[in-house]
Amino acid sequence: MDVRFRSKEFHKESLISMIPYGRHSINDDDIAAVVAALKSDWLTTGPIVEAFELSLERIVGAPCISVSSGTAALHCAYAAIDLMPGDEVITPPITFIATQATASLFGAKIVFADVLPETANIDPRAVESAITSRTKAIVAVDYAGHPADLDQLRSLADRHGIYLIEDAAHSIGSIYKGRAVGSIADITTFSFFPTKNLTTAEGGAVASTRPELLKKAEKFSRQGLVRNPKEFKILDQGPWHQEVHKFGLNYRLPDILCALGLSQLQRLHDFKTRKREIFERYLIELSDIQEIGLPTEESNVNTNWHLFPARFDPHVRNTVFSGLRKAGIGVQVNYIPAYWHPVFQDMGFRIGMFPNSDLFYSQEISLPMYYELKDNEIDLVVQTVKALV
Ligand SMILES: Cc1ncc(COP(=O)(O)O)c(C=O)c1O
Repeated sequence: MDVRFRSKEFHKESLISMIPYGRHSINDDDIAAVVAALKSDWLTTGPIVEAFELSLERIVGAPCISVSSGTAALHCAYAAIDLMPGDEVITPPITFIATQATASLFGAKIVFADVLPETANIDPRAVESAITSRTKAIVAVDYAGHPADLDQLRSLADRHGIYLIEDAAHSIGSIYKGRAVGSIADITTFSFFPTKNLTTAEGGAVASTRPELLKKAEKFSRQGLVRNPKEFKILDQGPWHQEVHKFGLNYRLPDILCALGLSQLQRLHDFKTRKREIFERYLIELSDIQEIGLPTEESNVNTNWHLFPARFDPHVRNTVFSGLRKAGIGVQVNYIPAYWHPVFQDMGFRIGMFPNSDLFYSQEISLPMYYELKDNEIDLVVQTVKALV
């Protein structure tokens, strides 16, 4: 169940859903870890935060800081590159609006580059033609967990002397050409919302192999406080002294939630294995229906699937969607192209500008995909889809 939309209508609908499109898995170890944190001396800013961050580093292949959401992680990433009014960031339309909102809050100009029809990931050729002298960063989103074309984007970024940021809200645990997502872009951001590949309820992380960028992201997420005496501009105060050179916010993830994350990280491999099985089962069961477009995995990646984005003819998509919801299957559409939002329409964007994104949106339905989804539930989804098309 996507609990993000808390309207009464949605809540009522989600309560009668038997099968949500995504959900968390919490076991006794997870609960014990949280209880132990609650009984400890540190509810926040304690040792479990560091333990979680070190554990994350082992999975994603780069030093990490934990933050309070995927949105916060993106905000910190943009702070780390000193994003400013007049800077341009190139983003894909098929994403959750946080990818753009957090850059826009720094006054940056949002530029869209269309997606590839197969993966709904940003198209490197579209990125190339969108680069200008004001471009500060390319932002790739690993839609559904499938890594974007990171090598091509990396070389574009290097060639133009700009940053590559990877919004990996969907893709912790995914592998690109043998390398972990998190170790390739200049900065990678993660989300630990309950529908994602692991959860801390709300939470996120920023990863970077570039210490200066991670330090800036960290400072921004901790109120901008400078604690190292060597960096002080006000001297001769006392041992209590700390000072601010640039404003930041409080995006800390407390020990209680880091404890959950630490425990969940140990289950990440199992989560991935089961979701890859579910993915395969859907492919096999649905492959004989011509009316459905199925997601594919490129041969050089190993995806930790967050979504199963099936595609239907736009004329039947809404009927299939309503039919599935009526049958108690809580499907979702991910996503309305970001530039359709009125906030972008007010800036002059017009529907139709990014045809691949628009087509993908008009066709897509995310079928249930989560660790605890049972085989008989997959069968029910498949039968219902077959009956509806
Ligand atoms: C691609 C993408 N980026 C960023 C976010 C924001 O993450 P959070 O909900 O943890 O703030 C999400 C969450 O849905 C997402 O899907």
